[in-house]
Amino acid sequence: MLKLQYQRGQYYYSILKNPVARVMKFDQFVTYYTEMPEGESILDYGAGDRPLEPLLRTKFKKYIAADYLPSNEAHTGQPDIPILDDGSVELPMESVDCVVMTEVLEHIYEPKKTLSVIHRILKPGGAIIGTVPFAVGEHEKPYDFHRYTSFCLHRMFDETGFRVVKIDYIGDGVGVAVSSFCNVFAIVTKVLNKLKLAPLAKVAGFVIGLPGMIYYFCVKMGLDPGRIQYYRKYPFGFTFYVIKR
Ligand SMILES: C[S@@+](CC[C@H](N)C(=O)[O-])C[C@H]1O[C@@H](n2cnc3c(N)ncnc32)[C@H](O)[C@@H]1O
Repeated sequence: MLKLQYQRGQYYYSILKNPVARVMKFDQFVTYYTEMPEGESILDYGAGDRPLEPLLRTKFKKYIAADYLPSNEAHTGQPDIPILDDGSVELPMESVDCVVMTEVLEHIYEPKKTLSVIHRILKPGGAIIGTVPFAVGEHEKPYDFHRYTSFCLHRMFDETGFRVVKIDYIGDGVGVAVSSFCNVFAIVTKVLNKLKLAPLAKVAGFVIGLPGMIYYFCVKMGLDPGRIQYYRKYPFGFTFYVIKR
């Protein structure tokens, strides 16, 4: 389970405990959130374990977590309201200032239907900010349906009544290679844990995670392979910031 941490006025996912892809997408998500004006209410659509709740309460008086109950069973967080089969939620029209969708759109079989629902409940000028994966294995089975390209995201938002403020590529082919390496060897820590060799598993976990951390800090320092188009076209995923037209 992901846990947001807080230190010196900042929320972050620790690179020591979370996949580098998730950390980097969150870093960009926060820059969008920072640009957002304060408001009355924010809807966390597909909230799962509600990891973003403490952050989202810093700018909005009312935080509402919504989730699809069959897939929410795999999570420890309970939603405040359910998402129905057609993507709808019981909220009045034009009642929400902002909707957050982090790592959710890939789990929705008919995403345009859902975006139209969100369009209706957003106030005029309201925003959606979120993230989607691109290079990632199947997860949350069997509720995993799509991997989006930037072109598909642009078109989907446009066709459902949103103006794209930003869609950013996060990570690149080098990052994906590094993180695939970590995933391939992650089984070693699992086996060591099963054999009740927890201290060894901890050391192995750290060593296996090291290339991901080095990659993360290289990008932070400006040594970013994603600046080369050849590498950029295979990202971890995308972040988006769109506004209701
Ligand atoms: C990878 S989790 C992300 C959870 C959370 N947003 C986060 O950032 O940690 C995917 C979420 O999508 C939700 N989900 C799955 N199918 C859905 C659907 N049809 N409509 C809305 N949410 C769905 C799951 O219940 C789960 O909470």
